[in-house]
Formats: sequence, C-alpha cells, structure tokens
Amino acid sequence: MIGRLNHVAIAVKDLAVATALYRDTLGARVSQPLPQPEHGVTVVFVELPNTKVELLEPLGADSPITKFLERNADGGIHHICYEVDDILAARDRLRATGARVLGTGEPRIGAHGKPVLFLHPKDFTGTLVELEQA
Ligand code: CO
Repeated sequence: MIGRLNHVAIAVKDLAVATALYRDTLGARVSQPLPQPEHGVTVVFVELPNTKVELLEPLGADSPITKFLERNADGGIHHICYEVDDILAARDRLRATGARVLGTGEPRIGAHGKPVLFLHPKDFTGTLVELEQA
C-alpha cells in the first residue's frame, strides 16, 4: 500500500543552525525558509537525489512541534511521510485494522499542497507516520 518515502521531517530549535549544518557540513542543497503559519512551522527543504528531508522550526504559540522539542532538546526525527495512491482507501484499510488516524480522520492539505493524514505513533513502532496522496 505505501509507496515512495516522500520525506523525513526533523524538528529543530534553530533553523539557521540546522540549515547551515545540512548545507555546509553535509553539502546538501537546501531551500529558503518557508513559513507555514497554518501548520505552525517554518520549513527548510533539503533536496536529496531520492527523497527530501524537512527541517521544521516552531512557528507561533501553539506549534505542533513545541512539545516534541521540550522532550527532545537537541531536536530529532519528528515524522516520516510515505506516499499512497489513494489516501481515503488507505485510511479506511488502516482503520479496519484498528490503527488510529489522528484528528478528525479527514485528510488536510499538507505542506506540499496535497492531502495528508497522520497515524498514531503508538500504532507504528513509536514513529509518527504521515501519509500523503501521491
Ligand atoms: Co511532513
């Protein structure tokens, strides 16, 4: 059911420091910071030949990654995103197995303008999983 790895998202406290690390130390191609107020984050996209890494810095008072950074002071992997061909069919199939879909269960428009859903980390080996319509 799941297809390509779309991205790995890493929560960071300081986007400038993390960007310099990926650009200068690791030699990756990185985007300009992109504020996404509707998602409570500012994102830098790290473009790799086979996938992307997204560096996420909290934006605003109720950012969804603030708590994560309180628990992970150095930052860390926040979620991984897999592509699916049919996000509603994927959701229904997962729910039928007892997996928990976060929020209302209705896909939201994600950072790339495509419908996304998040799955409860306790149901997926401790990893927050994002599904994105391919
Ligand atoms: Co994501």
